[in-house]
Amino acid sequence: MPYWLDIEQKKCRFLGGKKCRFLGGKGGDIVGLAAEYFDDGSSFRAIEPLSINPESLTDFSLFECHPLKNGKYRFRCLLVDSNSIPKARLMEMLNSWDLVYIHKKQNANYRKYLKNNLDFILKHEGIDVKNKTGTLIDLATEVVQESFAANFASRQDVNRIIENIEKLIAQAMDFISDIESLTGIANLIGHDYQTHTHSIKVGWLTATFINANPDLFEAKTDAQLRDLMIQAAAAGFLHDIGKIKIPKGVINKKGKLNNLEYVLMQSHTAYSISLLFESKLPRASMQTILYHHENEDGSGYPCGLCGDQIPLMAKICHIADVFDALTSKRPYKDPRTPFEALQIMTGENPFLETLRQFEIEVRENPKIPLTAIVRDDYEAKLRRLREREILEEEAKKRVEARTKLRDQGMAHCFDTKLLKRFILTINRSENFDLSGLL
Ligand SMILES: [Fe+2]
Repeated sequence: MPYWLDIEQKKCRFLGGKKCRFLGGKGGDIVGLAAEYFDDGSSFRAIEPLSINPESLTDFSLFECHPLKNGKYRFRCLLVDSNSIPKARLMEMLNSWDLVYIHKKQNANYRKYLKNNLDFILKHEGIDVKNKTGTLIDLATEVVQESFAANFASRQDVNRIIENIEKLIAQAMDFISDIESLTGIANLIGHDYQTHTHSIKVGWLTATFINANPDLFEAKTDAQLRDLMIQAAAAGFLHDIGKIKIPKGVINKKGKLNNLEYVLMQSHTAYSISLLFESKLPRASMQTILYHHENEDGSGYPCGLCGDQIPLMAKICHIADVFDALTSKRPYKDPRTPFEALQIMTGENPFLETLRQFEIEVRENPKIPLTAIVRDDYEAKLRRLREREILEEEAKKRVEARTKLRDQGMAHCFDTKLLKRFILTINRSENFDLSGLL
């Protein structure tokens, strides 16, 4: 399917010549664009007309689409820019269209417009949650991707990234902190795991949770609570930023990690802090990023903190992180349903001692003990290679056993009361039925 034309959404109205009068521009001229195109759809992108804010001037043109018999489409310009007609008329037109299109040449203008009007779109009652979620994930992915691609060479670099993230979160806060927006999260459950989308969902879930449980925090005013939610969501967006320092082979491995890779992966929390150390990110966000893998019983990392030693925001981020990871699809595992995921997260693990032994073993001896391969002695070389194979097989079995055992129950990882609150919170959305867990 061409990227620029979402055929599934193609429900464009066939506007007759009388209705779809070409508007705006001097004599129909559009800078860099023609007034009409015959195209296979790959040059255009469908957009929701209600996402256009009549109060905000746009510098991109809107087109209508007519399918033709030869498999192509006729795109005809409806509006050069919103500056060219009175606002009242523009509102009337936007309400009358089901779908409009923009040319890919003006995609950068459209994205700039979206960034500046995200709060308008997310608050618009006429736009459904699915479309709002799509726009939010699209824009948020860009800022998270930007942060993952940055080299963090200077303090200005880091602060620019944080400013972009905070600006986007501030615009999205009313939406993501509302229980109703969990419909958007529910629609994304079961999709392939992608680091950027995962980070956004963790920030989103954390903000929704805080808004639904303000009594857990010391915020005295709505503004203070909102600040906390922005700090928590920013931490969620950046919680795995340290993974940019982990070798690509480990990050992208399509399978379970061996002991050495597992230990390497655990270093991402410390890397995150080192990257953000000089930034102006608030202390609560930094703590959340550093401690989001600490377990309630002290078996987590990087510091082995337990109970009250772990900051509240980090505990919430940990719950959201595991919930989203379990409900996402990976190359080596099917996604769990929210019910199954929370069943694992609330389950008491009967093999806790064995699991702890595995963790100790991993930390004490992360390397597979390989012996040097002897040169020139063919028999000895073959024997050593076989030995290495056996050791690697054993290590693989241990990794599988560890993962299986962990899935038997993770209650020891979380604050029980907080996890119950998390279940109660997302159960308030009609998209989740977790009553069997309560
Ligand atoms: Fe992490």
